[in-house]
Amino acid sequence: MISEKLKKAREYEVCREKIIGREARPVFHMSPRTGWLNDPNGLSVYNGEYHLFYQYHPYDAHWGPMHWGHAVSRDLLHWEYRPAALAPDTPYDGDGCFSGSALTFPDGRHLLMYTGVRKEIGEDGGIRDVQTQCLAVGNGTDYEKYEGNPVLDEKKLPRDASRYDFRDPKIWRKNDGTYRCVVGNCSEEGGQVLLFTSPDGFNWEYQKVLAGDKRFGMMWECPDFFGLDGKNMLLISVNIQGNPYHNGNGVMGLIGDYDDGADTFVEQSARLVDYGTDFYALQTVMTTDGRRVIIGWMQDPATGWLHSRELPWYGQLSVPRELSIKNGKLYQKPIRELEALRGERVEYRKVPLKELVMLEGVRGRTLDMELTLVFADRRKRDQNVTIRFAQDKEHCTSLRYCMQDSMLKLDRQLSGTNMVSGALCPAESVDGRLELRILLDRYSVEVFINGGEQVMTAVIFTEQAADGISFSADGEVLMDLVKYDLYQ
Ligand code: FRU
Repeated sequence: MISEKLKKAREYEVCREKIIGREARPVFHMSPRTGWLNDPNGLSVYNGEYHLFYQYHPYDAHWGPMHWGHAVSRDLLHWEYRPAALAPDTPYDGDGCFSGSALTFPDGRHLLMYTGVRKEIGEDGGIRDVQTQCLAVGNGTDYEKYEGNPVLDEKKLPRDASRYDFRDPKIWRKNDGTYRCVVGNCSEEGGQVLLFTSPDGFNWEYQKVLAGDKRFGMMWECPDFFGLDGKNMLLISVNIQGNPYHNGNGVMGLIGDYDDGADTFVEQSARLVDYGTDFYALQTVMTTDGRRVIIGWMQDPATGWLHSRELPWYGQLSVPRELSIKNGKLYQKPIRELEALRGERVEYRKVPLKELVMLEGVRGRTLDMELTLVFADRRKRDQNVTIRFAQDKEHCTSLRYCMQDSMLKLDRQLSGTNMVSGALCPAESVDGRLELRILLDRYSVEVFINGGEQVMTAVIFTEQAADGISFSADGEVLMDLVKYDLYQ
C-alpha cells in the first residue's frame, strides 16, 4: 500500500522534473530528481543493478521533511530515477525518514534500514527529535514499512546513549548468516558508534560501543564499517572545530583491526578522508566484482542553505571512488568506469611554467586532467605552482602548491560563491614530483593527489562560460599534462 504522502511526492517529482533540462545538471555527478538532496542512502546491489537512495525533499531546494529519493545504475555513473521510495508517513517517522542503508536478503528481498524521526514535546515544553531505527522491505521499486517498526529504540540503548541523536544505521550480513549494524550516536563522553546484532535482520539487540571519544566532536553521523585489504575501516562524518585542515564538517577514516568473533575494533590510525570543503555523509558499497566504492554528499552541510529555494534542484553526490589501503593509508581513485566517459584527448609534455601558460585545447568545465609537476631543483623550497580553472576575466578557482610547507591550497575566493573560501591539504612531492588528477564537472572540482593518497573536493557555482584554465609557477617547474573531455 502506498500512502497519500508518498503518492503525492511521486506525482510531484514526475511533473516537476520536466522543467529541468539535461544541460542544467552535472554531467557525471548524481543530482536529485527534483528539489533537495543530501546524504546518499541504501547504496547496494539488487538484481544485478546498483540502487542508490538519497535524503530528499522534493518540494523545494532546501532541506525539509525527509523522503528517500531513488535511482538505479549499472556503472554507478549513469543513473535512472525510480519513484521516491519512502515518505515520512507513519507515527514513528512522521517528521522524517533520515539516512540509512540497504542489503539484499538471500531470498531476493531488498531491505532498507533507516532512521525514523518524530518530534516530542519535553517536560520543559521544548520540542526535540526522537530517533529510532526502522525497516522497509521491497522489490526494487516499492517498499513496505515493517509492521514491527521501530526495531531499535531507546529501550535497546545503553544508559548514557542519547535517544535524540541516534541515527544512520549501516547494515551488513556476516558470513555466518547473522546481521550487524552500526549506528551514529553520542554520549556525554563524545561521539560514538554503537554496534547491534540480529539473527535475521528484523530482531535487533545492542552489543557494544564499537568506537567513541571526544577527539572528533560530540556527534558521529553516518558511520560505515567494512574490511579493506586485510584491515578494517570505520568512516564517520563529524564536526571538528579548530583543526587547520578542516572546515568544520568532514569525514574521518579510522583504520584498524577487527576481531570478527569478539566484534571488537582496535584503531591504529585516523585521518581526514577528504581535505576539501564539500565531502560529507558518505556511504560505501562492494561492487559486483569486489571493489569497495565510496560516494559522499558533495556539500558542506553548513553552506547548504545559501542558495535560493526556488531552484528546481540542489545537491550533488561525489564521483564514486575506489578505496584501497597501502602502507597503512587510505587511497581513493575515481571509479574506473569513468574512463568510458572520456572523449577528446589532449597531451603535452615538459611544459615550462615560468610564465603564465595557457594551452591550446586545454579548457572546459567537464573534464578529467592528469598533471605531473616536476620541480627542477627539489632542494629549493621557495617554489610554487598555481593552477587556475573555471576562469574568466573576473573569476577563477585556484589550486596552489607550495613546496615550502608542502601544502596544497584550494581557493574559491574569486569563484563568485559566498561559501567557505578554501581549504588546505598537506601533500608531499615525491622525488620532486607532484601528481594531480583533477575532475571538473559543471558545479564541482575533485582533486586526487599523488595517486589518491589525499583528495580535495569542492562545489563551484561559477558561470559555465568561465571555462579557462591556466598554469604558472615561481621556480623551474615542468609539467606533463593529459586531458580528456568527459561526456555522458
Ligand atoms: C547528515 C545527516 C544525517 C541525517 C540526515 C538527515 O547529513 O544529518 O545524520 O540522517 O543528514 O537528513
